Amino acid sequence: MASNDLPRELVCRPQTVFLEQASQRRILHCSDIHVGRRFDPEPAEKLVEFARNLRPDAIVVTGDLTMRARRSQFRRVRAMLQRLPHPLIVIPGNHDIPLYNLPMRLFAPFRNYARYIADLDDGTLDLGVCAVWAVNTVCPYMHQKGWFREEDMRALEIWSQSLAPDTWRIVVVHQHFANTPDNPRPGIYFRAAYCLRRLAQAGVHLVLHGHVHQSGVFLGREFFPQLEEPIVVAAAGTVSSGRTRGNDRIYQFNLLTCSRNTLEIEVWNWNTQSRTFEAGPKRLFEKEMFMKRGSSWRS
Ligand SMILES: [Fe+2]
Ligand SMILES: [Fe+2]
Repeated sequence: MASNDLPRELVCRPQTVFLEQASQRRILHCSDIHVGRRFDPEPAEKLVEFARNLRPDAIVVTGDLTMRARRSQFRRVRAMLQRLPHPLIVIPGNHDIPLYNLPMRLFAPFRNYARYIADLDDGTLDLGVCAVWAVNTVCPYMHQKGWFREEDMRALEIWSQSLAPDTWRIVVVHQHFANTPDNPRPGIYFRAAYCLRRLAQAGVHLVLHGHVHQSGVFLGREFFPQLEEPIVVAAAGTVSSGRTRGNDRIYQFNLLTCSRNTLEIEVWNWNTQSRTFEAGPKRLFEKEMFMKRGSSWRS
């Protein structure tokens, strides 16, 4: 029994869930809640309200739940996450391990995360028209820098092969693969271009991440022109940390709509006047662009 008297199975965690078939699925992707210094409870509460009204088919939270991985911070974010509808997939970010407590960072970095949020097993969610695979990419030795472990990459390849050919394959991680000009951030994956190519070659269509505190939707080759295989990379900004970044410097989350032949990603922005989230720009991707014609891609 966890410390707030709720059974552990009510705590959000990566999980294997198979739901009834539907021709369309909506996934709410939010990130970088950062309970602690400069946490703003107002947008966090609005996000919970939005999610409870929308009831998406899944919610994905791409890490940095806390500011300094303290127990009091985890308790508070856990109470918030428990109010979100399920299924809920959560992974840790680099702020969910201690920064200054070096012995704990090296020898028990995920102790508080595992105690209050979830275990660290890779999580999968099969929604029929799309499927999600979530993995912990935090490296305690380097704190910020993203790290794809070889065993996780292999597990992902097996997972992808096990899915129906026309299922949208979505991978959930914390750090980013490349910087945008208005928001240079440390933490990019070790061998980022190689990792992204390997994901694309495994048949992954979309990677969701956080960490950069700025929403953005890109094709992989917009970062790496030499990348032949098509893959989409979508970042969710911070939903509730005053440490917003980039030109817009605003709270954000993303809403995905997966249909059989299309994938739409819509950015939702905080409106400082109405003090609520509003739909912003969106990008649409056709399934056809991921299909190969002869030796070349259709995109
Ligand atoms: Fe963050
Ligand atoms: Fe981060």
